[in-house]
Amino acid sequence: MAGRIPRDFIDNLLSRIDIVDVIGERVPLKKSGSNYTACCPFHNEKTPSFTVSQTKQFYHCFGCQANGTAISFLMNYDQLHFIDAVEQLAESVGLEVPREGGHDAAQDKRKPLYEVMERCARYYSDTLRKSPEAIAYLKRRGLSGETAKTFGLGYAPPGWTHLQSATGASNDQLLSLGMQIRHEEGRIYDRFRERIMFPIRDRRGRIIGFGGRILDNGEPKYLNSPETTLFHKGEELYALYEARKAAVSEQRILIVEGYMDVIALWQHGVRNAVATLGTATTPSHIETLFRTVPELVFCFDGDRAGRDAAWRALRATLPALRDGRDAHFAFLSDGEDPDSLISGQGKAAFDAFIRSALPVTDFMIERLSEGLDLSGVGGKARLAKEAKPLIETMPEGIYRQLTIRQIETLIGARLDVAAAREETPPPAPAPHAPTGPATPAKPGTGTQRRRAEKSESLLLRRAATLVLQIPAVIANYDESRHAPVADTDGAALLLDLIKQVRGNPQISTAALLEHFRESPVFKGLSKLASAPLLPDNHEMDADAAAEEFINILRKLRLLAERNRTGPVPESHRRGLLGIGGRRLRPPEER
Ligand code: GTP
Ligand code: MN
Repeated sequence: MAGRIPRDFIDNLLSRIDIVDVIGERVPLKKSGSNYTACCPFHNEKTPSFTVSQTKQFYHCFGCQANGTAISFLMNYDQLHFIDAVEQLAESVGLEVPREGGHDAAQDKRKPLYEVMERCARYYSDTLRKSPEAIAYLKRRGLSGETAKTFGLGYAPPGWTHLQSATGASNDQLLSLGMQIRHEEGRIYDRFRERIMFPIRDRRGRIIGFGGRILDNGEPKYLNSPETTLFHKGEELYALYEARKAAVSEQRILIVEGYMDVIALWQHGVRNAVATLGTATTPSHIETLFRTVPELVFCFDGDRAGRDAAWRALRATLPALRDGRDAHFAFLSDGEDPDSLISGQGKAAFDAFIRSALPVTDFMIERLSEGLDLSGVGGKARLAKEAKPLIETMPEGIYRQLTIRQIETLIGARLDVAAAREETPPPAPAPHAPTGPATPAKPGTGTQRRRAEKSESLLLRRAATLVLQIPAVIANYDESRHAPVADTDGAALLLDLIKQVRGNPQISTAALLEHFRESPVFKGLSKLASAPLLPDNHEMDADAAAEEFINILRKLRLLAERNRTGPVPESHRRGLLGIGGRRLRPPEER
């Protein structure tokens, strides 16, 4: 198991990179005052509400509230896991990512394997350039040199034993990567021969496998890398790395069946298509796709096999259909695939085809009703019976209700489905809900105290916002005179923030936030980090902020002295982020 990445390393990393460069490489940024702005890459908009602060090393969109550090940006924009995002940033400044308790052995072993795959791909693309026959094949299929380059296409020449000398890799490496095969008699040979090679990349753009197509006719038409330590077909999607940018800006991904479909669509300007890797669509695929965009359009062959594949995709999609997400199914006419459609009839015809896609519920009901006579009781009962278990996999929301209603209309009776399971825990209360629990205060009891607590909670929040956004505000902080009494979660959190900044006075907003990534308050703190300090987005002067900060701490101490004369009812204590102002210790123990 990999150890955790030490916190100092994250601090150090974030002090070496610049979020403006990281985002600027992916989104065109324009300087505006002390910030940078752009049209938000996380939602569709015409006027820029996405801002990047160089001082805070933090981004924030006023439109969709997306916000975070450079690490968060890579996680959201490039769809990376935390560790991968950190590794990518570290690589860009030439740092090795250390792990607590020594090295991550699995990681150490994987790294050279990625390099071997990269060398294989280079060998194949070099070979393609020297192979008139393979070039002619791609030309015949209408591909330009530029498209071939974008997808890193290559050619595996005839012959059984090129790869080892071409890549300098060991047999062990090539065998474990599935690039070579060991014959029963011990002879080792190259898996891919006389095939057009399609490198398969992961979300970070690293090559993890290959698909190989035979030139013209022959069996098998496609040969794919087997499952390896790098390559998991049930999780990866072909061209997600290439398609992500267009997909995010269009808020939609098309899922097609073939590598060549993705590539032909790309060449005709449809750049948000991905393909499964010759396997069925899995729930893991669906989750990955929905984390990137809210809408999926599946494009399948109209024949039986295509409809069956679509049905499997639908079953994988239903449990993920939360409100705000959407899925459609488009079926091609016989003998067509997306490649032949767009190459033969052009982009307008393909766009019309996508517009003809069936909403997910329509496809579901159409399929369930196939072969049933819905005018009779038997057919209706059968439909209800088949629909029930499917609907029960759906989360509560508009799609579930719609499906139930449509089926009830068809069968003319109530459909008795089990309640949807609670999908995710409800989100933590937003920090700007200072008035707390919905239970109204009983008249005549402790109104004054509650008011004091409300103002205490507002003060704590303001102080935390100041430390987060301008860590230098603690310059004049003196623990003995100013430290807040840490008897609530909110005050404890403020103390924690102050402690972090004292440990590293140069820390940026982003690095400070990263200290809390695993904490339940992370989201709340991120919101505080992006809240305007002054009305109308005026910049706050650092000295004024420092002065206000110390004044707040003084007020908090006064309030504490005045109000902490007796025990405070649990329900009335408010935390800094509305996370519950549970008393940590009774006051008499302080
Ligand atoms: P072209 O004939 O080159 O246009 O291929 P296509 O992309 O139209 O492929 P097709 O619709 O025949 O198949 C879709 C996908 O299924 C391919 O991209 C492969 O991933 C997979 N596939 C097709 N044929 C085979 C095969 O013979 N073996 C394996 N393992 N996978 C295949
Ligand atoms: Mn095809």
